[in-house]
Amino acid sequence: MSETRIVTSSAPLRGEMTVPGDKSISHRSIMLGSLALGTTVVRGFLHGEDNHSTLRAFRAMGIEISEEKDGVICIAGKGLNGLQEPGDVLDCGNSGTTIRLMSGLLAGQKFFSVVTGDRYLRKRPMKRVVTPLTQMGARIWGRGGGDLAPLAFQGGELKPIDYTSPIASAQVKSAILLAGLSCDGETTVREPHLSRDHSERMLAYFGADIRPFAGGVSLLGRPRLEGREVVVPGDISSAAFFMVAALIVPGSELLIRNVGVNPTRSGIIDILRAMGGNIELLDERTVSGEPVADLLVRASSLHGIEIGGAVVPRAIDEFPVISVAAACASGQTIIRDARELRVKETDRIAAMVTEMSKLGAILEATPDGMIIAGGAQLHGAAVESFGDHRIAMSCAIAALQAGSAVTIYDTGCTATSFPNFWDLLESVRQ
Ligand code: S3P
Repeated sequence: MSETRIVTSSAPLRGEMTVPGDKSISHRSIMLGSLALGTTVVRGFLHGEDNHSTLRAFRAMGIEISEEKDGVICIAGKGLNGLQEPGDVLDCGNSGTTIRLMSGLLAGQKFFSVVTGDRYLRKRPMKRVVTPLTQMGARIWGRGGGDLAPLAFQGGELKPIDYTSPIASAQVKSAILLAGLSCDGETTVREPHLSRDHSERMLAYFGADIRPFAGGVSLLGRPRLEGREVVVPGDISSAAFFMVAALIVPGSELLIRNVGVNPTRSGIIDILRAMGGNIELLDERTVSGEPVADLLVRASSLHGIEIGGAVVPRAIDEFPVISVAAACASGQTIIRDARELRVKETDRIAAMVTEMSKLGAILEATPDGMIIAGGAQLHGAAVESFGDHRIAMSCAIAALQAGSAVTIYDTGCTATSFPNFWDLLESVRQ
């Protein structure tokens, strides 16, 4: 998977493009499609490695999932009690969403299962889902006192809970809601700030009785879920790389079509606009219960800002590329309340500080964020991805503004979420 890329500075980026389907929505389409009765057809599914981990796991539990023309996915759902005991360990690869959401689901099944992942995923904390699931009556074992994969589940009856999560995490919220599907009665999850709500929207779209309220969401157990057509919009987290690229390379203008702009994900637009970025939303519409728009982005002179609070979970995957925008902006940017970045695919605070420093940016890590001086002229160097797709792509965007070539090691990981990233980048460079 390891691969090296050399990226040089760029003339203006121009033209129209679409980015691949939303990773979060694609995962959930497989999960809910499997638990629904009847066929679910998924258009615009992200054929990235993370989503294929989810797809393989559900096939291993007896669900028929076929791939049709143009990458369309058809799932023959078997209902809430239709999953079968897998014959082997379920390998979630690099995917935190797969392992955590499936933990919620597996806890309430009437069979034994084991989930694991690659060397990065096996270092990421699982107590955040194991703790509430155990409170629901789940029986789960794992390394590090139940915090680290592999995790083993002896599934069984669960009881609903009213859980207040200490962190704003859609993975935690969704794991509990998926566990709540198998319970009698109402499961409630509360969180300090609203995290992405794709699970809630898709559960409602498939027919569940789910009620969001200020500070949380409640779900009535044992719903009848019906197979649906799901049209997955382009992933705003993938579009973010091209938004920042078009803003920082003078003379650029990009139209990124069909991007999901769910307000729980669109923090990147608010942040870049607050930095002075010229981003227009065109043709706003709703598709399969999700807000979608075309984004017109024009090169802009950016300035530093302070970022913290409720916008952080709304932009949680975008901080690597936000740090690139901030390094190219005038003045200081302060990112706080983003401690979660330390437990993503890698420690994204440490990774961006070391790698951007190699390129000449002036920035320092804080326990829960970064302080970025802005205004430094970036130069070429050799940088590492640490096997993290978003670090690799952020370094590529920084390279567009560097005075000499940037070598990026270990870039094969971009296939996790954005398999055609390099081709698309080439196609919009003039
Ligand atoms: C995701 C939720 C986020 C995000 C991840 C995908 C999801 O993680 O970072 O890339 O699909 O639910 P947390 O919920 O742990 O913040």
